Amino acid sequence: MKLLITGGAGFIGSAVVRHIITHTSDEVVNVDKLTYAGNLESLEKVSGSDRYAFEKADICDRAEMDRVFREHRPDAVMHLAAESHVDRSIDGPAAFIETNIVGTYTLLEAARRYWNDLEGNRKADFRFHHISTDEVYGDLEQPEDLFTEDTSYAPSSPYSASKASSDHLVRAWYRTYGLPVLVTNCSNNYGPYHFPEKLIPLVILNALDGKPLPVYGRGDQVRDWLFVEDHARALYQVVREGSVGETYNIGGHNEKQNIEVVHTICDLLQELAPADFSYRELITHVADRPGHDLRYAIDAGKIQRELGWEPQETFESGIRKTVRWYLDNLPWCKRVQDGSYQRERLGVA
Ligand SMILES: NC(=O)c1ccc[n+]([C@@H]2O[C@H](COP(=O)([O-])OP(=O)(O)OC[C@H]3O[C@@H](n4cnc5c(N)ncnc54)[C@H](O)[C@@H]3O)[C@@H](O)[C@H]2O)c1
Repeated sequence: MKLLITGGAGFIGSAVVRHIITHTSDEVVNVDKLTYAGNLESLEKVSGSDRYAFEKADICDRAEMDRVFREHRPDAVMHLAAESHVDRSIDGPAAFIETNIVGTYTLLEAARRYWNDLEGNRKADFRFHHISTDEVYGDLEQPEDLFTEDTSYAPSSPYSASKASSDHLVRAWYRTYGLPVLVTNCSNNYGPYHFPEKLIPLVILNALDGKPLPVYGRGDQVRDWLFVEDHARALYQVVREGSVGETYNIGGHNEKQNIEVVHTICDLLQELAPADFSYRELITHVADRPGHDLRYAIDAGKIQRELGWEPQETFESGIRKTVRWYLDNLPWCKRVQDGSYQRERLGVA
């Protein structure tokens, strides 16, 4: 099977590419524009494989997308390319509208033209798998509530609104044109190769530098943490075994308040990289993010029942692996911060 993966140089996309090249005999074509968030170094372990190809291209460029489909003739698309950081979407929504909405539309149209010309089993077996977020569902109100595949959409940020919009486009292309799509909505990912603007890597790296650890508001926001390698396995399973037209929610069964996550990281660093001060002393509460949702939590029962997927990492095992990975890969962290981003606060509106 040949998979065209968009955003394969990003955090989750690179985990998917590493998983497929390392654990399967499938081929990958990675289509990535290499924005600040894309880094080919994350693929060093697999990019030498003759089952891997890279195309530096923008998903908003229709001619380029047509060429990529024509030249590589994939069996399926896994669409991960996106602008992904909520704080950046508050400061500059335009890139989110462009890549997440117009880019998804452009890719859908290129895929539809390519799929229309396929024949027989190749046409019947083609899949367009769109990777999205649980943030499209908005804030959970009751403590016992969970997002299911039937929860109504109520996005709060420019980021989640742009992802919600792209989800609607993908489902419309199924209903109207019959394009064989799959949609997955997942919770917050964490793990190796995560760009250091996101909470977990930011806290690890700031702590090691003795810098303040910014916690938005009281830090009582709850997220359901999913180890990125568990997510990569789930996505590969969905693209191969999922039912056309269906949505699958993917979560880690790891609801934690942000402040608990920060405390856990501080305590792990105290053990693995002891300093002559307490890392917890660096915690600094800062103004909350505008429009910040308080709680997200996923019911991942459908993917477990129908495809037999469940996460292998608990938060405790996954966060230990993650902290250890950052300690062992500090040069990667330095190189991905290319000078334009220095872990400053974004998204205060
Ligand atoms: N990280 C999470 O916790 C999380 C949670 C839920 C859903 N998601 C979704 O998963 C997907 C991947 O997220 P991530 O965290 O790996 O993102 P990321 O920001 O780390 O990577 C995004 C990748 O897309 C590429 N890209 C951006 N614009 C592009 C364009 N116009 N054309 C081609 N490539 C482009 C970037 O270069 C980068 O390699 C996104 O669709 C995101 O919405 C992420």
